[in-house]
Amino acid sequence: MSTLIVNGGRKLDGRVSVHGSKNSVLPILAATIINSGTSVIHNCPKLRDVDAAIDILKYIGCRVFVDGDTVTVDSKNAANFEIPYNMMREMRSSVIFMGAMLAGMRKAHVFTPGGCELGARPIDLHLSALRALGAHIHEEGGKIKCEAGRMRGRDIVLAFPSVGATENTMLTAVACEGKTRIINAAREPEIEDLQNFLVSMGAEVSGAGSSTIVIYGGKKLHDTEYEVIPDRICAATFLCAAAICGGNVSVGNVIPEHIETVTSIIDSIGCSLSIKGRDITVRCPERPSAIRLVRTMPYPGFPTDAQPPLMALATKCNGTSMFVENIFDGRYRHVSGLSRMGADIKVEGNVAMVCGVKTLFGCPVEATDLRGGAALLIAAMAAEGKSEISKVCHIDRGYAAIEKSMCALGADVKRV
Ligand code: EPZ
Repeated sequence: MSTLIVNGGRKLDGRVSVHGSKNSVLPILAATIINSGTSVIHNCPKLRDVDAAIDILKYIGCRVFVDGDTVTVDSKNAANFEIPYNMMREMRSSVIFMGAMLAGMRKAHVFTPGGCELGARPIDLHLSALRALGAHIHEEGGKIKCEAGRMRGRDIVLAFPSVGATENTMLTAVACEGKTRIINAAREPEIEDLQNFLVSMGAEVSGAGSSTIVIYGGKKLHDTEYEVIPDRICAATFLCAAAICGGNVSVGNVIPEHIETVTSIIDSIGCSLSIKGRDITVRCPERPSAIRLVRTMPYPGFPTDAQPPLMALATKCNGTSMFVENIFDGRYRHVSGLSRMGADIKVEGNVAMVCGVKTLFGCPVEATDLRGGAALLIAAMAAEGKSEISKVCHIDRGYAAIEKSMCALGADVKRV
């Protein structure tokens, strides 16, 4: 397991370009099963979670070719409907293969998924939606056996706009005769990207980005070629790094409207932002002012995935910042590492109060999850002295060679 050695206290200056979206490419890779043909996917990031998804595709019988950031999947011979426990535990989005395999192979024997430990991460909404569409699902000891019954489209109302449950329902509904409406669907940009990918295969899907998605299933699907959207959370992470370290940073290949809730906060605390096309440039003062209140919400609200990096920034802001985490009940695990660096953070339930300090001090810390690890890295970059961040594998799940990106901005980060 590698470690990042960070010598902090350096201003950032330079340009970094954002890679393809992890949370978009993972459901899209799963969806390549459905057309029993060839899918060419561009802007595919080099991430541990992408490697895990490719391993699953190969295991079920797909042929997968990787050429730089282009991944080609041939799902003609996908036939093995059983994904072993160790593969399912690698990441949360392995659960999305359930819907894709039901649609493409009419069977899926999987296990409850792994992924970041962010508190309870049930999949009840996924299972109830797939059963409503006609799947027979038997759960026993963490194993989930799905078999397609008479799959018919119908209205599916999600009790919560779950990203994963929306994606699993979309993937399954594509193979259900008739009309499916997903009501109270997640509205994240990654949902729209999945819709656009499915449409590129010949599926009839519309409404993604709104709370109601309509699918007319049972269409014959064909080969496709598609480009994945940029990763909005990586973009947010780089902007938070610039704001906490100070300096001038340009973040390229961003879709600005995907992170308006983040850029509006960065803009409000004293940083000057300029947005030109897909480039966001930020000029940050010595010490930004505090962030009054951040509530994480389903899109288009403030994204829970940007809460840890923004909290890292808040630890050095001038004043007290408040965070209310409404999506996951275990998403403050980065607080202990930030506190070890000298941050002044009080957590009460889902509320965190961050009293900004003038100085953070480098020290050994351990990444606990993907975005929490990124938060520790940007805090270490702004801290005085040396930090060692262990369990970097968590960070590598969602950021491609993050030390290279940060060094391109002038930080001193080495992987050992
Ligand atoms: C996706 O996770 C993302 N992961 C997460 O990103 C992201 O934080 C999350 O959406 C919210 O935006 C991927 O896309 C691979 P949810 P997902 O279902 O689908 C509850 C990252 O760092 N819930 O929208 O698991 C759940 O417990 C990761 O990139 C149920 O109760 O999120 C949570 O409280 C972390 N029952 C809330 O809904 C269910 O059946 C939101 O979960 C499903 C979810």
